[in-house]
Amino acid sequence: QTGMFTYDPGFTSTASCSSTITYIDGEKGELRYRGYPIEELAMKKSYLEVCYLLLNGELPSPEELAAYDYEFRKRAYVHEGLKNLFYSFPDNAHPMAMLSSAVSALSTFYSEHIMMRNDEDLQVMRRRLLAKVPTLAAFAYRRSLGIPFIYPDLERSFTENFLYMIHAYPGQDLKIPEVQVRALDTIFTLHADHEQNASTTVVRSVASTGAHPYAAITAGINALWGRAHGGANESVIAQLEYIGSVERVDEFIARTKDPEDDFRLMGFGHRVYKNFDPRAKILKKLLDEMKDELNVDSELLQIAEKIEAVALSDDYFISRKLYPNIDFYSGLILTALKIPKEMFTIIFVIGRTVGWLAQWLEFHADSEKKIARPRQRYIGPETRSLT
Ligand code: SDX
Repeated sequence: QTGMFTYDPGFTSTASCSSTITYIDGEKGELRYRGYPIEELAMKKSYLEVCYLLLNGELPSPEELAAYDYEFRKRAYVHEGLKNLFYSFPDNAHPMAMLSSAVSALSTFYSEHIMMRNDEDLQVMRRRLLAKVPTLAAFAYRRSLGIPFIYPDLERSFTENFLYMIHAYPGQDLKIPEVQVRALDTIFTLHADHEQNASTTVVRSVASTGAHPYAAITAGINALWGRAHGGANESVIAQLEYIGSVERVDEFIARTKDPEDDFRLMGFGHRVYKNFDPRAKILKKLLDEMKDELNVDSELLQIAEKIEAVALSDDYFISRKLYPNIDFYSGLILTALKIPKEMFTIIFVIGRTVGWLAQWLEFHADSEKKIARPRQRYIGPETRSLT
């Protein structure tokens, strides 16, 4: 087919770049950020510590973390002019459309950094965006509900502040349970980076043209939105709600296997993980530990667990090496945090922005900075003449 992506193993298995940030072994189900296994980071380090690691290559000392945390709290505020942008959107605007517009608009407030005069400019550019994305995301959410914006609270940590900004009433000193902060913090860490996935490849491609870094991140947000990529988490919950009961699972497993039916199990399969997605395993463990404290919807969880059990014993899935991926369980925890499914990919953006920025910087630090220019295999008409 012309215009479609056609894959042959040799073509897609060539490395698109070399990187020191994230390592994935698809066969063994291994994922490491700067050499640390995701299992250790997810259980023992905060998302802010993981951000420091991804952006600087090493984990922060207690003093470095304290300074980092305070800077993020201060930089969480956004220019008042940006609020007007949100009021220009229609009531039913999808939060992802609003967030990508807002991050693109952020570049108009900081255009001097296009020149990237020195390393400190680069560092500030990254920390500024990382700190502001949750605020812009919360503004998008509250705009979608037509309720007043809540500003960040200097007394609250990165992850707690996001839950506060989306759930608090104006003037309310909302107490956020520690278990909710820990659950969302872990989800951010699991989404932080993932090698050269579609949206990261887009970020690096836009970086290679020399465009503003916030334009590159905007492109990454838009690429992530698709349901084959970051939009899958929203589709998983919609699918579990549509299946509706454990008794109907077999009907949908059969539909997945029917070549005449284009139904696909969202949250299943992965281009790289052909054994299991370690992030899905961590999320499943988190769910098992927290489902009572978080009051997770037991019916949706039972449907998800039945799908996983049936699929993992069915030859259709085994022969195609289809296992749950990160999106399969994340939505159940986010639903328990009272975050609507329309905001799930926004959560993915908040977690992944640090990976995009780390990859952007790695490209920028590359002395060659070659512009991205994939080649194609031409399968169109032979040369012909008008005469
Ligand atoms: C993310 O790249 C990354 O790292 C991404 C990500 C990250 O952190 O950045 O990990 C995040 O995007 C996770 C993936 C989220 N997407 C979904 O859950 C959507 C559902 N999954 C699929 O659409 C699919 O599995 C992909 C897109 C994830 C992977 O697609 P591939 O590797 O191109 O596989 P394929 O489409 O060629 O499918 C191979 C076979 C096909 O069957 P046959 O044609 O050989 O008979 O497996 C089947 C597919 O029909 N298949 C599925 C399926 N996924 C693949 N069948 C049923 N349900 C599915 N989910």
